[in-house]
Amino acid sequence: MKLTDSYGRQINYLRISVTDRCNYRCFYCMPEHGVCACQHEDLLSYDELIVLAETAVQMGIEKIRITGGEPLVRKGIIEFLARLSAIDGLKHLALSTNGQLLDEMAADLRLAGVQRFNISLDSLRPGRFAQITRGGDLKKVLRGLDRIAEVGFPLPKLNIVAMRGINDDEFLDFVDLTLTRGYSIRFIEYMPTLKEPGWQKRWIAGSEILNKIAANYPLEHVDKGPYAGPANDFRITGAKGTIGFITALSNHFCEQCNRIRVTSTGTAKSCLFSEETIDLRPNLTDGNRLLLRRQLNELVQSKPRCHSVTTGESDHSSFLMSQVGG
Ligand code: GTP
Ligand code: 5AD
Ligand code: SF4
Repeated sequence: MKLTDSYGRQINYLRISVTDRCNYRCFYCMPEHGVCACQHEDLLSYDELIVLAETAVQMGIEKIRITGGEPLVRKGIIEFLARLSAIDGLKHLALSTNGQLLDEMAADLRLAGVQRFNISLDSLRPGRFAQITRGGDLKKVLRGLDRIAEVGFPLPKLNIVAMRGINDDEFLDFVDLTLTRGYSIRFIEYMPTLKEPGWQKRWIAGSEILNKIAANYPLEHVDKGPYAGPANDFRITGAKGTIGFITALSNHFCEQCNRIRVTSTGTAKSCLFSEETIDLRPNLTDGNRLLLRRQLNELVQSKPRCHSVTTGESDHSSFLMSQVGG
């Protein structure tokens, strides 16, 4: 079965946020104080999430990405992931994480059937990393990177949110990582989900970064594979890894969008920036798969052609990325 939206896009990818809690406080994602995490009883239970995933897979979803907050902080996550990976028809199970807990959890995650990670890594300098994340431990994340390779995971995608005056002097250091190791690094254009005043000063276009890299290295374009995400990928000639650009604002990729998302409390969003949402919770709690299918169909049909957020004044509402999972 295939899920096709009203613009002819095939929707085969579901992002599920399993918690809005995080052991970091990246300044572009969450305010330092005053974020009220959902109460445990408000979160969809693992049983409800399995009903969601099974139904979605029966309808044509082939890839699920688990996000947060930080998904690895939710209790029981390994057992849940093992149940998820056993769903018949699910071809890809991936996880987006800040990497802080990978060192200790890598082996269990492998046994649970997770296939690949996307890991946030906004700086390669310990002090700066701790500042951006408000407390993250770079050494621990780097240990996690080694550990996942040791237990047999493919090399991860590394996410770098590009920020002028914060980490723009490190872009070529990140690029150098791809010369000898097969990481897929991705420079992400900052998305103003918090709408904080003056955010434009920090914002950097993907094209500016691409030009800087191209001035230093010969680059080749890399074709997108199946289930390709938003990144436009390049490779330095002869390098092991790739360099991607997620140009969410300057050159959005909405015409190729293949995804829908559900938050940890059961709110479904057809687009990251959608203000119209559908509450799946009642049908998940009742296990009413027929009505759930209807809602998921309705969600896909309501998918907008593209988002309208720009580097100018946009009238989208602000939201916490940690509640939606990116
Ligand atoms: P894969 O393609 O499965 O590797 O996922 P991804 O790269 O989209 O996932 P990840 O969780 O690593 O997110 C990387 C960045 O892409 C984050 O900043 C997300 O917010 C952003 N992103 C993911 N999906 C979308 C989308 O549909 N629209 C926009 N604008 N940004 C997205
Ligand atoms: N803009 C761009 N990317 C963001 N992320 C979190 N908040 C933002 C934002 N405002 C990224 C994180 C993580 C991914 C899931 O989303 O860096 O790697
Ligand atoms: Fe946590 Fe990710 Fe948000 Fe950072 S970007 S605070 S790691 S959810």
